[in-house]
Amino acid sequence: MADNNDLLHWLDACPTPFHVVRRAADTLSTAGFTAVERLGSELPAKGYIIRDGSIAAWSRTAGAEFRVVGGHTDSPNLRVHPNPDMTAAGWSQLGIEIYGGVLLNSWLDRDLGIAGRVVSRDGRITDFCDRSPLARVPQLAVHLDREVNERGVQLDRQSHMMPVWATSDMNFREWLQRASGVEDIVAFDAHLFDVTPASLLGADQSLIASGRLDNQLSCWAATSALASHRPGQHTAVMVLNDHEEVGSDSATGASGPLLESVLTALAEADGLGAAARLDVFARSFCLSADNAHAVHPNYQERHEPRHAPVINRGPALKLNGNQRYATSARGAALIRSIAEERSVPMQTFVTRNNMPCGSTIGPITATRLGIDCIDVGVPQLSMHSARELCGADDPARLVSLVSGFLA
Ligand code: CO
Repeated sequence: MADNNDLLHWLDACPTPFHVVRRAADTLSTAGFTAVERLGSELPAKGYIIRDGSIAAWSRTAGAEFRVVGGHTDSPNLRVHPNPDMTAAGWSQLGIEIYGGVLLNSWLDRDLGIAGRVVSRDGRITDFCDRSPLARVPQLAVHLDREVNERGVQLDRQSHMMPVWATSDMNFREWLQRASGVEDIVAFDAHLFDVTPASLLGADQSLIASGRLDNQLSCWAATSALASHRPGQHTAVMVLNDHEEVGSDSATGASGPLLESVLTALAEADGLGAAARLDVFARSFCLSADNAHAVHPNYQERHEPRHAPVINRGPALKLNGNQRYATSARGAALIRSIAEERSVPMQTFVTRNNMPCGSTIGPITATRLGIDCIDVGVPQLSMHSARELCGADDPARLVSLVSGFLA
């Protein structure tokens, strides 16, 4: 059931991209989708393929054009160094690397768990997650930083963000063996995350507070919509890519070959050659779902006054003439008509001319494949904080919008 309860469970179950991909795969398997290891084999009508922190899935209608929904599985966070063991002033600390555009101060004084995956000598990959409060990046006391409230918190990325995690001698590898149940670990990806569960918030319970809303909310909405997709006029495709927060250039990022490979394999299964395939791409659409900035009541001047999305008033359509967002007038018309049909309220986001505009996987997909893209996203506050905030009415609207788009 694609309700807020399901979304909260998803967020709690998915501290890393690897867990997002597993959760999406499990949801799709339950809905009758088949896991595929190689695209060169015979493709099922409903299937999915996993590549590390990314997943692509499809529900085929022979000869039809594509409707692709995309999102990203990664969120900015702190990641454990390959050689993480450090001691200082009576503490055991973990060396960490900062991943993506972390809002650094939001990670201070939070109780952090550790999750990720380990690879053993024979190449076997095991996901792990320890939700107990294990680590913390302690903030300096106000008495030792008298100007902190006037000057703002100033954090050196190398020296001030290393978490403490014990007062006795600790060995991360030994801990990891116990946490993962794997003896012969040769490499790992280990991410820190806030252990506070996702929850409804507000005197009227009209908000959702959680880490990783950007962009697991969209991953959840896309998966929920595809899981209930019935074959119709289009071949419905979903792609959830890793590495958006660091620019998407990787084997599994949106600049990599995953989506193109899947669309090509599906087109070949329909007997289409290279030129015919490009014709189909040109008639296809991609809905790139990534959260948008809601207008903040204390900083209203940061938004373009006539294009400032309000929380709980529907997903925002994101436009940018300079192509930081890929939405064309053609795509905007399509998604607005779908929203109207389904009675989903929609808003419009345009960045101020004197502020830099963010970007997402939409323009990359449009550039790579020649598929017309539409950028949408649920408005939220505190983007890239360890704990973000969105409206409780908007997630179900995004599911409805994506369902209408794929149908
Ligand atoms: Co995002």
